[in-house]
Amino acid sequence: MNAVASLGERQRLALQRPDLLREQGFVGGAWVGGATAFDVTNPATGDVLARPARLGRTEAETAVAAAAAALPAWSARPAKARADILKAWHRLILQHAEDLARLMTAEQGKPLAEARGEVAYAAAFLEWFAEEARRVYGVTIPGHMADKRIVVTHEAVGVVGAITPWNFPAAMITRKVGPALAVGCTVVLKPSELTPLSALALAVLAEEAGLPEGVLNIVMGDAPEIGDVLTTDPRVRKFTFTGSTPVGKMLAARCAGTVKRVSLELGGNAPFLVFDDADLDKAVAGAMASKFRNTGQTCVCANRFYVQAGVYDAFAARLAEAAAALNVGDGLSGPTEQGPLIDERAREKVSTHVADALGGGARVLTGGAAMDGPGAFFEPTVLADVGPGALLCREETFGPVAGLVRFETEAEAIALANDTSAGLAAYVFTRDNARVWRVGGALQYGMVGINTGLISTEVAPFGGVKESGLGREGSLYGVRDYVDTKTLCLEVEPE
Ligand code: SIN
Repeated sequence: MNAVASLGERQRLALQRPDLLREQGFVGGAWVGGATAFDVTNPATGDVLARPARLGRTEAETAVAAAAAALPAWSARPAKARADILKAWHRLILQHAEDLARLMTAEQGKPLAEARGEVAYAAAFLEWFAEEARRVYGVTIPGHMADKRIVVTHEAVGVVGAITPWNFPAAMITRKVGPALAVGCTVVLKPSELTPLSALALAVLAEEAGLPEGVLNIVMGDAPEIGDVLTTDPRVRKFTFTGSTPVGKMLAARCAGTVKRVSLELGGNAPFLVFDDADLDKAVAGAMASKFRNTGQTCVCANRFYVQAGVYDAFAARLAEAAAALNVGDGLSGPTEQGPLIDERAREKVSTHVADALGGGARVLTGGAAMDGPGAFFEPTVLADVGPGALLCREETFGPVAGLVRFETEAEAIALANDTSAGLAAYVFTRDNARVWRVGGALQYGMVGINTGLISTEVAPFGGVKESGLGREGSLYGVRDYVDTKTLCLEVEPE
């Protein structure tokens, strides 16, 4: 791996706006450097793409101070004024979508077509919450006494601390920052150190959209130090995190010290149920979309496949054929449909899960092995006859492996699907409407895809139950975690 940013890597990006690639943090409206830097590498080539400033506690505290200073004026603006800036930001993101997509592919590895999709998805949250900003309605409640009037309003919760993951370097930011800014909060954001470039490029465009200084701040580098500030500083009134369940639990525990509002979007272990009466074309297409999107690195990816005995062999053969046909490679070149895993550690986990399943008697229908080359590539894999106790079924694999388990009855499938501490997304394929309602209701999940493998959109609530998280992002529910409810109880003068 090169020790300095590779010129070749940057040239390959071919950005129309090279100034979108930033290596400084964004604090109080200024771009700030640091004494040291860290490497951002392209996971497809292993080459260093950029060396952003390693910021830490001092910059995080300065950012919180800037966000606190900007809060009164920003929250006092009429909702329409805030919405106008979000709309301008949305337009700029679409205008520079190709540059943003290329940066994202280079730092994260997902194929360019998927990166373009994520940029549009990210922008959509800003448009949606710009529209929602003007509809944060309160209510009046009939008073409990003749001379009492009760009015309920919703106010911005205050400074928000946000930590976002590497798997969706842009959309997980706008899904949090969009509602926060829309309702009048200010934000300090720490993007993943693996993919900070998308976040910084978004900040360039936010500044151009007219976002006042201090309203959005970005610090990255020393994750423990920055995380400590965001979870313990009393000026931060709300904390939001997308990432793994163990880290989410640890961060939430820290937030308890200052009783912050907390939203968590944590790991899943999504079951994918295919019944004998399913449309197999739809089931295979849904499985491909859900399992292999982002090389299997999404929280809502199908993680374990339960297939009823009558269609098991046909589904397995068709899924294996579709997976074997995927083009694997560098997302920036060629007809790539699956990129690398984010790093070697991720690939080791996938290899361990596959080895565990094979040790338990599973059969390889396609793939099954790590691929040669500088990046952490892994073959699109389908395994049959996986045991329900395999690691593939108990833990989130976060990789391109579909492990198939056979079941006989609906009750058995529901019990297998619910046998987990996670509860983010589940998928059901059936043509029986009565079963749709029965199984859809019985699954202990925040989101259930029925005859579809793609459930993510800005208009629907996204979030989990059990240990998959707290709160909902996107949709009309997405603003709720960023407002406090205030009761005004008025005593009126008697006539
Ligand atoms: C995630 O993996 O955390 C988000 C996936 C999505 O929004 O579809």
